Amino acid sequence: MEHQKVLVLDFGGQYNQLIARRVRDLGVYCDLKPCDMTLEEIKAYDPIGIIFTGGPNSVYEESSPHIAKEVFELGIPVFGICYGCQLTAYVLGGTVTHAMTSEYGKRELTIVKESPVLKDVPAKSICWMSHTDFVSEVPEGFTVLAKTDSCPATIFADEKRHIYGVQYHPEVVHSEYGNQVLKNFLYEVCHAAGDWTMSNFVAEQVAKLREKIADKRVLCAMSGGVDSAVAATLIHKAVGNQLTCVFVDHGLLRKYEADEVMRVFKDGLGMNLIKADCGEQFVGKLRGVTDPERKRKIIGEEFIRAFEKEAKAIGAVDYLVQGTIYPDVIESGKGKSAVIKSHHNVGGLPSVVDFKEIIEPLRDLFKDEVRKVGFELGLPRNVVMRQPFPGPGLAIRIMGEVTPEKLETLRDADFIFRDEIAKAGLDEKIWQYFAVITNSPTVGVMGDFRTYENVIALRAVTSVDAMTADWARIPYDVLERISTRIVNEVKHANRIVYDITSKPPATIEWE
Ligand code: XMP
Repeated sequence: MEHQKVLVLDFGGQYNQLIARRVRDLGVYCDLKPCDMTLEEIKAYDPIGIIFTGGPNSVYEESSPHIAKEVFELGIPVFGICYGCQLTAYVLGGTVTHAMTSEYGKRELTIVKESPVLKDVPAKSICWMSHTDFVSEVPEGFTVLAKTDSCPATIFADEKRHIYGVQYHPEVVHSEYGNQVLKNFLYEVCHAAGDWTMSNFVAEQVAKLREKIADKRVLCAMSGGVDSAVAATLIHKAVGNQLTCVFVDHGLLRKYEADEVMRVFKDGLGMNLIKADCGEQFVGKLRGVTDPERKRKIIGEEFIRAFEKEAKAIGAVDYLVQGTIYPDVIESGKGKSAVIKSHHNVGGLPSVVDFKEIIEPLRDLFKDEVRKVGFELGLPRNVVMRQPFPGPGLAIRIMGEVTPEKLETLRDADFIFRDEIAKAGLDEKIWQYFAVITNSPTVGVMGDFRTYENVIALRAVTSVDAMTADWARIPYDVLERISTRIVNEVKHANRIVYDITSKPPATIEWE
């Protein structure tokens, strides 16, 4: 069955992905596409509604992205946000004015005219603005539906043609009824059926995968991460033991992590899961190596080699699974692809596996949807909500040379940190939290003796996409418990520091 689709045209705003996620969350499938999509392409896409995102430009600049007037004549409802609303007004003959000062932050929104798009929105509410230009005169046929003190046409519409312009950002949480307005556009204006749910997705994908794979063989590299775990489970549900999973344990995982992967997927789900124990090999290769980039490179190469060995033993397969997700495939509004994280874990695999085709069952999903699918498939919460963990593992959290002793110290310290964060109920509020072994031992005193041991740094950040991050404001008493436990329970650690740097200028990982 084909889903109804909404088209989100990306004009380069910073919240473009958030808009698409909100629409999906409201039960309607949508794609985020570059704003230079042609009229023919838009027609062929056949959306039930079109949303224009915000963007950094001004409609009067020559180089600004524009839109063909004919888009408004397709009979498809349009919802323009911020730059998208200014563009709507401009193209249809209204006036956009450059304000002397930018407006940024919360404003009181007052409704001046009822509309389907304002159903269940109170007469006054808070909206969140971020703009300089504004629509000072709406085009002919349009009426103002809501305003603020400084913005005369905050929401305007041509109800006959189902065209809406919204100056504020309904997609951000600071806009109190923003989600309601988006929902109204989808359900009251576009008459969406709400057919995008993760249980539908699972049922459809399983059927599709079953048909596509038929009696062929599939190979998947499992890392323990959310994406590969969900992708493998979905395929396992479709074709059972025609799927073979290979899990390379590079010996750089966190405490109990490798066992947990085996327990959940092999013992629990009965997956055909092969674990390659390569810890000694990896740590051996890392002996004496201190340069972070060298470390990463060695681990990446060694990983490919270890996987190749397993793949050879398995023999030729028909399909290789990759856990690619939607943010990796989106092209941004400026025509260039969005930043794609180099994921050494899977990047080099296709070259060493004898296979015919790659399958990417999560290619259409945002991360939060992948997690919902994980729950839908019955995976345990700690697997589904697992924090991001870098491919090179603990090696980039040990400054300088990686040794078995340091790995043990780090694992124990990190385990206590995670345990206390979970006990404090902060584990799903913090994006990533982990311990690091610095490369500078310090002097301490234990009983009556001098110690000269490792300084452990704690790193915890809040973030939405890992591109920027802020250090997490963990309460002092929680930090105190963590510190006391680590210096008491962990060998070779005598001092704890907390990293209070944002990204940028620092990165999340230390190496
Ligand atoms: P940085 O340290 O660059 O990290 O701020 C951003 C995010 O990426 C993760 N990270 C990696 N993930 N392979 C991965 O799969 C890697 O080599 C790698 N290096 C960093 C990091 O944990 C954070 O979530």
